[in-house]
Amino acid sequence: MILEEKLKSEIRDVPDFPVPGIIFKDITPIMMNPVLSKEVLEELKQSVLDLGITKIAGIESRGFLFGYPLAMELGLPFVLIRKKGKLPYHKVSHAYALEYGQAEIEMHIDAVNETDTVLIHDDLLATGGSASAAGQLVNNCGAKVAGFSFLVELEFLGGREKLLPFTENILTLVRY
Ligand code: PRP
Ligand code: MG
Repeated sequence: MILEEKLKSEIRDVPDFPVPGIIFKDITPIMMNPVLSKEVLEELKQSVLDLGITKIAGIESRGFLFGYPLAMELGLPFVLIRKKGKLPYHKVSHAYALEYGQAEIEMHIDAVNETDTVLIHDDLLATGGSASAAGQLVNNCGAKVAGFSFLVELEFLGGREKLLPFTENILTLVRY
């Protein structure tokens, strides 16, 4: 079975979560499968090897699950992009609209700089609001976005369009 099919067989649809009308893509069964998790990590690694990345930024919280292991695998620093009020040091922030609701994300002001080309990683690309806000944070610190990586892309929400102004390197392992 190819990786996309394996992932689709594990990802669970949960109707009406977190609000009525949303079908939630639950990736926790992937984490329950260590063999598949290793395959995911290896595929992410091979796909971003040639992008000239200097750092990986993961979007809280599910972007930490594979983002940090991927950074360690590549021998690169990992940067935390967190929800408002969680980071202790001086920060840059950006507000954006979610698929459901509103959010604001923050990053430490010295996490990336003009010498960096950054891979932004998250579990899922929906409207692209979170990832484009992360791209703004990275750019606001003078760094370039080398690429985006996600496990899942919800193509019908068109998030990819929001990310193309940053880079054409948008990797997704499973598309719905
Ligand atoms: C979900 C998902 C992505 C984001 C995608 O995170 O993990 O980060 O939404 O949506 P978008 O493309 O429309 O921005 P959520 O905010 O639910 O939080 P979590 O990762 O902490 O569970
Ligand atoms: Mg998230």
